Amino acid sequence: MPRLTVLPGDGIGPEIMEQTLRLLEKVVPLGSWQVDMALIGGCAIDACGNPLPQETVDACLASDAVLLGAVGGPKWDAVPASLRPEAGLLGIRSAMGLYANLRPATLMAPLAEASPLKAEVLGDGFDLLIVRELTGGIYFGEHGSGNDSAGRYTAYDVERYSVYEIERIARTAFEAAMRRKKQLVSVDKANVLESSRLWRATVNVLAAQYPQVELSHMYVDNAAMQLVRDPGQFDVIVTSNMFGDILSDEASMLTGSIGLLPSASLGEGTRGLYEPIHGSAPDIAGSGRANPLAAILSAAMMLRYSLEMEDEARRIENAVRDALVDGARTADLAGGAAALSCREMADAVIAHL
Ligand code: IPM
Ligand code: MG
Repeated sequence: MPRLTVLPGDGIGPEIMEQTLRLLEKVVPLGSWQVDMALIGGCAIDACGNPLPQETVDACLASDAVLLGAVGGPKWDAVPASLRPEAGLLGIRSAMGLYANLRPATLMAPLAEASPLKAEVLGDGFDLLIVRELTGGIYFGEHGSGNDSAGRYTAYDVERYSVYEIERIARTAFEAAMRRKKQLVSVDKANVLESSRLWRATVNVLAAQYPQVELSHMYVDNAAMQLVRDPGQFDVIVTSNMFGDILSDEASMLTGSIGLLPSASLGEGTRGLYEPIHGSAPDIAGSGRANPLAAILSAAMMLRYSLEMEDEARRIENAVRDALVDGARTADLAGGAAALSCREMADAVIAHL
């Protein structure tokens, strides 16, 4: 019996999770699974003063998979950094050892018009995968603040990567490339950063084990530009935690909306955490306008990577595509035209299962 922990979180998280579970029920026998709800982020701060209660960590560690909505919101902006909702998210990724974050960005043909890119730039579209390192780098390095030697108030965050951490994420990326078009671009800032020079050298060493993969390197500023100039040039991108955070938001927008992109976070083994790449969108929370597709597609990734249910994953992905072909649009995709609510969008996908 698969065990699933659901972490709806804050903002639009609960709405999109509700629709995702409703849809999931039509595809798998959820009634016979063990499904537990748990708190993370701001709602956990409100309930027990901690964005990541131990109970939540225990439930996640005992699960085959975790589905997460989103965390954060202005309500918790003033709490100390280590107790912010985001610390809960970073904490659960780290506690579960989920160092590899897979963020696929595909332009679905029916949405070409929603993409901010011109048709001639989009060409035949794009289908890329960002492999983001998720438990290291500057988000997990030493943070601090205080007076410097001249008495000026200063804050700092340290970017630090070990060969071990770079090698395991690079391996994930090479393996992913082997299953795709065998093209890998490693993104760094090796012209400036020592940690990036180690990143590049380590990726180069590993490349010898994957002679069929065509490896190239790109500076992150150039990568940001190339993504809008010609996204079709990319197959797999591997990069550090912060660069991957930034580039995946950029790539998501190219698909038409940040509301479309799912992600899978994996470590050793098949246990994973699945979440949309978008945030909690507090400005539209509770209005019924959220797009549930990124969360629904995250559930599909969960079936594929953690539960060996490839057919069911495809059923969901095909239904999402067919609903979009049919014209189903939430507000983020409608360009001002009449839009479906979060629930209606889920209904549209369910109708195409
Ligand atoms: C993401 C988010 C998180 C991150 C935040 C909320 C901590 O931006 O999943 O991309 O930076 O990883
Ligand atoms: Mg982000």
